[in-house]
Amino acid sequence: MNIQFGVDYYPEHWPRERWETDAAMMEEMGIRVVRMAEFSWFKLEPEKGRFTFEWLDEAIRILAAHGIETILGTPSAAPPAWIIRQDPDIQPVDREGRRRHFGGRHHDCQSNPAYREHIRRYVTAFAAHFGPNPHVIGWQIDNELGNSHAELCFCESCAERFREWLRAKYSDIETLNRRWGTDFWSQGYTCFEEIQPPRLTATGVNPSQMLDWKRFHSDLIVEFHRFQSRILHAAAPGKFITHNMMGLADTVNYYDLAEDLEFVSQDQYPVMQKTTELPRYLGSRGAAALDLIRGLKQQSFWIMEQQSSISGWGEMSRMPRPGEVKLWALQSVARGADTVVFFRWRSCLFGTEQYWHGILPHSGRPGRTWAEIRDLMQQYAPLVESLRGGMPVSEAAIVYSYDQKYAMQIQPHHPDLKYDEIWLAYYMALYRKNVPTDIIPDRADFSRYKLLIAPLQYLMTPELARKYEEYVQGGGTLVFTMRTGVKDRDNICTEEPLPGLLAELCGLHVYEYDCLRGMSAEVRWGEDIYTTELWADLITPEGAETVAAYASEYYAGVPAITCRRCGKGRVYYVGTAVSADLADRLCTELLEASGAGSILDTPEGVEAVCRQGRDGTYYFLLNHTERPQNVEVPASWKPWGEHAPMPIPPFGVNVYRTDDLFAKIT
Ligand code: GAL
Repeated sequence: MNIQFGVDYYPEHWPRERWETDAAMMEEMGIRVVRMAEFSWFKLEPEKGRFTFEWLDEAIRILAAHGIETILGTPSAAPPAWIIRQDPDIQPVDREGRRRHFGGRHHDCQSNPAYREHIRRYVTAFAAHFGPNPHVIGWQIDNELGNSHAELCFCESCAERFREWLRAKYSDIETLNRRWGTDFWSQGYTCFEEIQPPRLTATGVNPSQMLDWKRFHSDLIVEFHRFQSRILHAAAPGKFITHNMMGLADTVNYYDLAEDLEFVSQDQYPVMQKTTELPRYLGSRGAAALDLIRGLKQQSFWIMEQQSSISGWGEMSRMPRPGEVKLWALQSVARGADTVVFFRWRSCLFGTEQYWHGILPHSGRPGRTWAEIRDLMQQYAPLVESLRGGMPVSEAAIVYSYDQKYAMQIQPHHPDLKYDEIWLAYYMALYRKNVPTDIIPDRADFSRYKLLIAPLQYLMTPELARKYEEYVQGGGTLVFTMRTGVKDRDNICTEEPLPGLLAELCGLHVYEYDCLRGMSAEVRWGEDIYTTELWADLITPEGAETVAAYASEYYAGVPAITCRRCGKGRVYYVGTAVSADLADRLCTELLEASGAGSILDTPEGVEAVCRQGRDGTYYFLLNHTERPQNVEVPASWKPWGEHAPMPIPPFGVNVYRTDDLFAKIT
């Protein structure tokens, strides 16, 4: 597939006479693919069973004449008004029992049987018509599944599907009662029919029920996707299906969704309307999302929507600085993107997203953004091509789990304790040192990594505990944090002293802990004092050595961070949320202990990434700051392309290459 760059295109928003101009301009830039039609249901089926596919045939034809292939989206994120009028129950119901009505998008209940029939009719006809077209190379189902569906839907159809899901999981009601702990507050059920989704209660929720609800909800969306993917695959074998995901979003378990895809895609918007952070901070957040997306299938991916200009619905973001859009696109490439598709071709004159700016402004006249993206495409297409399918090589990994995240969302302990912020604190420290890091599920093979960080392993099973132990015995360096081994998979607390099933491996017990409400704690490591927040596990070592101890509160002198050697490896236990400076210190220790390597030392805000290519190893230096930056580059790195200026200009990217096929991480 000779496709490096693309754009999201909505020809139906523009007069037919303009399409030829658009296609010619796209070709001139280096655009080789468009995604279309994911919101075009009404234009393609204005009344039941009357399909008006001709205009889309025409758009595909015009684009193909300019060497541009097409990905088509199924439009189930925006059912038209005539469907809603016919079957108003398709509109979803929120936790409080209110319907969410037509007028925006995502106004659909994904379990509703009538809606499924509308989708079946549409997707079957759509796939039969466009499947044979050689210029339609693949599909996207719906759009950003899970977006706007957080917490939806609580309607009777979803309630019934939830009950079916529970029957399949627990078989009988006694088992469910036991595993949900329904003796508490008289919540016992005599049959599955009595069970409701967790709608608005007078007070409180059952954490086990909530966890199952979140799992069910994710499973429903994955099944909703599969319902469509089966139709598409049957009608058009050999065409790929991908999905545009949203990084750290969690309504859907992306590991599960990824199983139904040939490859995953990401929508990358570093500067949203409310973003006020400095550019260098955006670099690390963007990197984390990309590493997470690459980890879903542990393979390279696409960017299906890459920000190209100001984002905005009602409010607007700042304008990306000159060079910044190119920097973001190359960051995606460096971290595993095979193709980058920009959102969107031209800013729309009407509708909710009037101010979500495209490559072209409202006027349709090419300006600075167009020229910058054209230069990027023309200059870097060969580079993207030589990287296709290649991966960064990581010796460090972070375990990311939707189940753990859900459980922490249900009971965050401290209002500011956010699952993502806890693992990101470690990720950021590794990022600052340019340590290539994979984000992986707990079912991945750990043995590939020298360093494994497993934050908030709150729900634990004997199998997972054993897997961690084997990893350490085999020579791995493993890091656990506070709130590990607290519960079983049903969200029921363990009777064992914490960290429960992992106490022996960690060589310690936590008999007491402190939730740091309105206060912080101090931790002493050697001569240095660090301030920590949110949580303090008071560690009683039983075989572990103390690395750092609290230096404040009634627990001054009590261990806060410990390390135990075990087999050929070591296991660290960090009993508190790490601040950036403490994370940096810890990271230095962990790299020494594990031997996991970093690519290069760079000034703050300059990111170094390495990715295997077909004919060598490529190194990227990405300057996320508004200042020129000097970096000392190893002599073996040969500049790729015309030049690699030093200092690297503001928002500039230098690319280097070595001949060896395996990245040397020192
Ligand atoms: C994405 C979405 C697009 C468009 C864009 C701008 O999240 O997939 O359809 O809405 O944001 O808001």
